[in-house]
Amino acid sequence: MILEAKNITHFYGNEKALDDVSIFIKTGEFVAIVGKSGSGKSTLISILATLLKPTNANMTLLNHKSEDIKDIDTFRKENIGFIFQFHYLINYLTVYENITLAVDKIDKNEVTELLKYLEIYELKDKYPYEISGGQRQRVAIARALVNKPKIIFADEPTGNLDSQNSDNVFKLLQKIARENGVSIVVTTHDLDLAKKADTIYEMSDGHISNYN
Ligand SMILES: Nc1ncnc2c1ncn2[C@@H]1O[C@H](COP(=O)(O)OP(=O)(O)OP(=O)(O)O)[C@@H](O)[C@H]1O
Ligand SMILES: [Mg+2]
Repeated sequence: MILEAKNITHFYGNEKALDDVSIFIKTGEFVAIVGKSGSGKSTLISILATLLKPTNANMTLLNHKSEDIKDIDTFRKENIGFIFQFHYLINYLTVYENITLAVDKIDKNEVTELLKYLEIYELKDKYPYEISGGQRQRVAIARALVNKPKIIFADEPTGNLDSQNSDNVFKLLQKIARENGVSIVVTTHDLDLAKKADTIYEMSDGHISNYN
């Protein structure tokens, strides 16, 4: 298991957003979390990704109990990749600069290989506003992969894409999990997309269940 999260409960003020959610994720597993708007998907994935501190939980990430992780920023940087619906690319930096912004030691050959793998090598000197939405999302994926994370969290990564591009993003995530053994956790409204995952969970009113 790369991630074991037990009994997560989360309140925003008096409102309970997650109610006793447990989820276990294996190395190289591609997990999709589906559910209606407001069901708790973003809250859950933010907690799993250590971006939001839960009201209550018992979490172990890469064999570290979350409360024992001293330098959470370094831990995140070394182990975790993020992809969001709004890609947060920086418009005055090129594709290449966006991808390598948070990299301490850039290995140019490795970055080139990654760009080619994601089929964005030809775009490396363009700016985000000069490329398409699907291409931007692949740049966001490259940025999440460049530090070689062991687990990637993606919250509605296809929320702004048409169905063809959404399909391509999910196929790409599937390929990354299979070929590189990276665990992937993705939320989506779209059950057809979710079916590309190894495991599907459904959120409903702050509760989680296996989808079948
Ligand atoms: N920052 C916040 N402050 C207060 N309540 C919040 C906050 N974020 C989310 N909530 C509430 O928590 C519940 C779960 O929200 P969450 O964003 O996790 O749902 P979601 O499944 O991601 O929805 P969507 O599909 O619309 O993105 C909702 O009732 C929402 O109103
Ligand atoms: Mg959400």
